[in-house]
Amino acid sequence: MHRIETVSAKQASLHLDSLTRLLVDCVEGGASIGFMLPFEPGTAWTWWRGVIAAVERDAVALLIAFDEKGRVAGSVQIALDGPCNQRHRGDIKKLMVHPTQREQGLGAALMQAAETRAQERGLSLLTLDTAVGDAGERLYARLGWQRAGIIPRYAQWPDGRFCATAIFYKELAA
Ligand SMILES: CC(C)(COP(=O)(O)OP(=O)(O)OC[C@H]1O[C@@H](n2cnc3c(N)ncnc32)[C@H](O)[C@@H]1OP(=O)(O)O)[C@@H](O)C(=O)NCCC(=O)NCCS
Repeated sequence: MHRIETVSAKQASLHLDSLTRLLVDCVEGGASIGFMLPFEPGTAWTWWRGVIAAVERDAVALLIAFDEKGRVAGSVQIALDGPCNQRHRGDIKKLMVHPTQREQGLGAALMQAAETRAQERGLSLLTLDTAVGDAGERLYARLGWQRAGIIPRYAQWPDGRFCATAIFYKELAA
């Protein structure tokens, strides 16, 4: 059983090493989430420090999933720092479930928790982009997200191959 929490910057700092491991294991497992191989833990650690600073200034909402032993099992972020004419919109970033914890519904639970958090903050629209043909793309479609379109060669897999990216959105009930 997992529990999902929206964490403060201070709480996130307590889990910095586990979050670093989560990111490294996802990228080394082939996830197209913004990083290339080889991927050094130090790079991931520094990146998480930046995320935590963004949480501190309320530019990002960070949700962490913990397993029954309190270990980090996954995370997702809502970017809240769009331009001032888009304050009704959040961008979902870096949905990650640790490879050992997948296919138990945790990815869906993280997305549902992020949606609830977005509604609590008064957001009415969420957007995201994801690699075509990956588990994430199936997940978003299953959870009722609308596909706006596909952009070829938008990003790369960690090994350097290009990947097409699907842009999704979801309108939230008031
Ligand atoms: C995308 C990702 C977050 C999905 O996480 P997950 O926890 O495995 O997601 P879910 O368990 O909700 O769903 C995954 C699959 O497991 C299946 N599943 C869910 N619960 C299940 C259960 N109890 N028993 C068996 N299968 C189950 C789902 O039907 C789904 O099947 P599908 O891929 O064939 O459509 C995960 O693969 C990941 O972290 N990937 C790397 C990072 C990444 O690419 N993120 C997306 C960036 S946009």
